Amino acid sequence: MSLDTEKRLAAEAAARFVEDGMLVGLGTGSTVAYLLPALAARALDLRCIATSPDTEQAARELGLKVESFHGTDAAPRLDIAIDGADQVSPSGWLMKGGGAAHTREKVVAAAADRFVVIVSSDKLVERLTPPVPLELLAYGLAATLRHIGDVMLRDVPRSPDGGVIADYRGDFDDPGELAARLSATVGVVEHGLFPAAMVSDVVVARGEQIEIRNLR
Ligand code: 5RP
Repeated sequence: MSLDTEKRLAAEAAARFVEDGMLVGLGTGSTVAYLLPALAARALDLRCIATSPDTEQAARELGLKVESFHGTDAAPRLDIAIDGADQVSPSGWLMKGGGAAHTREKVVAAAADRFVVIVSSDKLVERLTPPVPLELLAYGLAATLRHIGDVMLRDVPRSPDGGVIADYRGDFDDPGELAARLSATVGVVEHGLFPAAMVSDVVVARGEQIEIRNLR
């Protein structure tokens, strides 16, 4: 069975967690691309928050209602957020940001009562490994890069919020330690390490089998 089919099966399983009337956070990436039609097909009365312009456009084209998450008028809490990941460790720590959307994805995940991660089986790893995606403030960029150390700018457009996308390439044993160091570095807007404590469930497709790991 192809990894694409696994992505679709994981996405379709997670779409069944969504209930009528919910405010739903939509992640970004090729796995989420399978979630959107599965959600639309349920024909529920939903409001959605998109984590990227690509997701917003695709969701709207499928008839999903997408709201802004900017400013003080936006809803402060979401019922559920569903997103993919680049790596999932045995303890539930995630590496995200392969698509450079990790800042908005983390904001949405943190605002959700339930954060569901959908992955094909290749995303399960023994331990998280570099690179760690970063979003950096353009102002003072050279100084921030010097503070971070082993980092490389990614040749991609800026984030929708104007951030510069880069990757930390240093090796690490403890994701919590590195996450704390990166979060404490002035000029780092956000990094792609997501703590297990943020994750409610991981839905993994392995062949035709769906495994749902509940982390809470
Ligand atoms: C985007 C992300 C994605 O969720 C992650 O890269 C997984 O993508 P895909 O579902 O295409 O494998 O973090 O910033």
